[in-house]
Amino acid sequence: MSQVPSMRYDARYPGIADLKRRAKRRLPNFAFDYLEGGIDDEQAKRRNRQAFHDVHLTPRYLRDVSTIDTQVTLFGTQYALPFGVSPVGLGDMLWPGAETALARAAQNARIPYVLSTFSTTPIESIAKAALDVCWFQLYVPRSVDILEDMIARVKHAGFRALVVTVDIPVGAKRNRELRNSLKLPFTLTPQMAWQSLTHPTWALQTLARGAPDFVNVARYRTDTSQALSDFISSMTIPGLPVERLRKIRELWDGPLIVKGLQAEENFRTAIDCNVDGIIISNHGGRQLDAAPATIDTLRSLPKDIASQVTVMIDSGVRSGLDILRGKALGAQAAFSGRSFYYGLGALGAPGATQVIDIFRDELTRSLMQLGCLRFEDLDSSWLANSSG
Ligand code: FNR
Ligand code: LAC
Repeated sequence: MSQVPSMRYDARYPGIADLKRRAKRRLPNFAFDYLEGGIDDEQAKRRNRQAFHDVHLTPRYLRDVSTIDTQVTLFGTQYALPFGVSPVGLGDMLWPGAETALARAAQNARIPYVLSTFSTTPIESIAKAALDVCWFQLYVPRSVDILEDMIARVKHAGFRALVVTVDIPVGAKRNRELRNSLKLPFTLTPQMAWQSLTHPTWALQTLARGAPDFVNVARYRTDTSQALSDFISSMTIPGLPVERLRKIRELWDGPLIVKGLQAEENFRTAIDCNVDGIIISNHGGRQLDAAPATIDTLRSLPKDIASQVTVMIDSGVRSGLDILRGKALGAQAAFSGRSFYYGLGALGAPGATQVIDIFRDELTRSLMQLGCLRFEDLDSSWLANSSG
């Protein structure tokens, strides 16, 4: 329950766009480009934002809105707020200590934190920092032995849900990353060294912690120096076969979520494989520049699909209001990747809480403005006619 909100956060950076501007100054260019980049001409990324703006909601006044309920129940667990942190690979290269800071902030705020397969912090440490709210994102490896090993580790560590990402049948060719020669294990080119020196806060903290690496999959690596997209292609299965998804369903008895689906036939197959949830995502516009905006995919989702699985959304969420726009179109929760890392880049560890506080404040005020007392009650009846 939330009363009339107060601005407990640093009001010099009141919105996600303010944090992004500061992050751009404080991160070396190669790190900011990795965070910010989309594929090709970055049109899918742009479309994601535009499509959120195009969802209009009609407010209902003449109501008492002094108490607002922002809680949401996902897979039997109650979360204080209806948004979470999307999985982001190489988090500690973006900002030293980012993954632990985000996991702790998510645990304190009781929102889901999704750890990437390509994270830079051990699975077990994140489970300790975010025991009640940690979900694990799986990039499905080619080898079944590795798959079994990873799922066993995640289960043993106590993760609450497994999120299988299906939208990288091949590593994306992102020109910003290639121009910057981003490689794993992380190796500094002279150009990157210069960029680091001119961003001393990032550089000193990175030096103190050691070069970031994909610690959770390093043990399975054979080739020791590859461009990021080549490493991802060589480690992961080139297109997830349905049988492999069924196998994952057998191995994982907790909530199973598929992330990255966009086509109706895929939603139906996922339901047939007994998954519990879907995250409608185009990977933040990082995989296919022709992909539809996720809010448009959500809008055209057949009703019977939404009644069989928990539907969630990401890609382009930048405000509390966007989370409500998604809800009006049927998404029980929304996630963001870049927003949280703008916060980390701008303010360091406290930036994680700043982003959560901004989203909470905007979401609560917008619910009050709309005259909707409970997030769970916000439905399509609030859509202005043109956006339904
Ligand atoms: C991602 N994303 C991602 N997704 C995933 O399943 N595993 C991963 O390791 C990553 N890595 C990753 C790195 C970076 C730098 C970004 C920006 C994104 C996609 C991510 O989970 C999410 O789908 C998008 O970030 C959502 O879009 P916005 O909120 O960033 O626009
Ligand atoms: C990316 C990969 C790690 O989006 O998913 O950069």
